[in-house]
Amino acid sequence: MSESKPPVNPVAPSSGAAPTVSIVATGSYVPERVLTNADLEKMVDTSDEWIFTRSGIRERRIAAEGEATSDMAAAAAQRALDSIGMRGEEVDLILVATCTPDMIFPSTACYVQQQIGARRAACLDVSAACSGFLYAMDIGRQYILTGSAKTVLIIGAEKMSAIVDWTDRGTCVLFGDGAGAAILQARGATHGILPSVLGSDGELSELLTLPGGGSRNPASQEVLDGRLCYVKMAGREVFKHAVTHMANAATQILERYGMTIDDVACIIPHQANARIIQAIAQRIGAPMEKIYMNVDRYGNTSAASVIMAMDEASRTGRIRQGDMVLLVVFGSGFTWAASLVEW
Ligand code: ACO
Repeated sequence: MSESKPPVNPVAPSSGAAPTVSIVATGSYVPERVLTNADLEKMVDTSDEWIFTRSGIRERRIAAEGEATSDMAAAAAQRALDSIGMRGEEVDLILVATCTPDMIFPSTACYVQQQIGARRAACLDVSAACSGFLYAMDIGRQYILTGSAKTVLIIGAEKMSAIVDWTDRGTCVLFGDGAGAAILQARGATHGILPSVLGSDGELSELLTLPGGGSRNPASQEVLDGRLCYVKMAGREVFKHAVTHMANAATQILERYGMTIDDVACIIPHQANARIIQAIAQRIGAPMEKIYMNVDRYGNTSAASVIMAMDEASRTGRIRQGDMVLLVVFGSGFTWAASLVEW
C-alpha cells in the first residue's frame, strides 16, 4: 500500500446545483514490519489454523519502534495531498479518528498538522473507536456544507500494537497498525457523500474497553499490575453485536435512499474479522463478490480499516468513478455507522 490513487480534479459546486461533498483524494500507509500468524505461534499459545479459521487474518503490520500514530497518519495524508497536487496549507480542518492517540493531549491531529505543514487548519481528534472514520467523515461533510470549511482532511490511524496485551492470545492475534486519509471538498457530483446513519449504545460499553490510563483509572502501579492499560474484549459478545448493528445500519441507509444491494457496486465493511463480514453479507443478502476484504493482510486496524480498504480498492480499480460504495463500521462504545458514497 505504498502509492495513492490517481488524481481526481476537485471542482467547485456547479452553479444552480445543490452543493454535494465528495472524497476528492485518498491515501494510505502501513508500516514495513509484517507479523505473521507463524510469528505469533512463537509468542503465545496459538496456531495459524486457529487464527485464520476464526478471523480470516494471515498477517498484520506493526509500527517501527518510535513510530507513533501521527507519523502514520501524516504519511497517509501526504500521499492523499500529493495525489492531487495539494499543499497542506490549503487544508481548513483536520479530523483524526483514532483510539491510539500519540498522547492524551494534545490531539494527534495537531501533530499531523505540524508534519504536513497545514498551518491554517483547525485540528481535533474524533473518538468513536473503530467507527471513528465514518463519524469524522460525517462531521467533515457538515463543515463543508455549512460553509465553515472548504477542504477537510479526515484520517483514520491506529497503532493498535501499543495497546494490545501481547500475552493475551484472545486479542493480540486480531489487531494491526496503519493509517488512511481522505480529502473532502464540495463539487458537483450527483450524490457525493450522503448523510450517514450513525448510532451508539453506551449501555454495552464494558464489552470492549481500554480501562487504564484515563480519569477512571489513572496511571498507577495497580493499573500496570492489572494489565489495565491494554484492550479488554468479550469477543463472543462483540461478535454478535457487530453483526447485528452493521447489518441493521447497512439496511437502514439503503432504505433511507430507496436503494437495494443491486444499486451498490462495492461494500466496504470495517475489517475486523472475515466471519463477521460473511455474516453481515448473508444478513443483507449481498454476494461476497460485492464485498471488499483485506483483513487477511492487515488484521483489524480499528479506525484506519475502512479508509485503508477504500484507498486500496480505489487504487486497484475495484471501485471506479461513479460507483456507489456502501461503507459500514462498528466499534467500542458501542458505536456504528453506515455511509453511501458515490465515488
Ligand atoms: N489461539 C488459540 N486458541 C484461542 C485463541 C488463540 N489466539 N484465542 C482464544 N482461544 C481459545 C479460547 O481460550 C477458548 O478455549 P476454551 O474453549 O478452552 O476456553 C476457545 O479458543 C474459544 O474461544 P472463544 O473466545 O469462544 O472463540 P470464538 O470462536 O468466539 O472466537 C474471536 C474468538 C475470534 C475473538 C471472536 O469472538 C471474534 O471475532 N469476536 C469479535 C472480535 C472483534 O472483531 N473485535 C473487534 C470488533 S469491534 C472493533 O473492531 C473495535
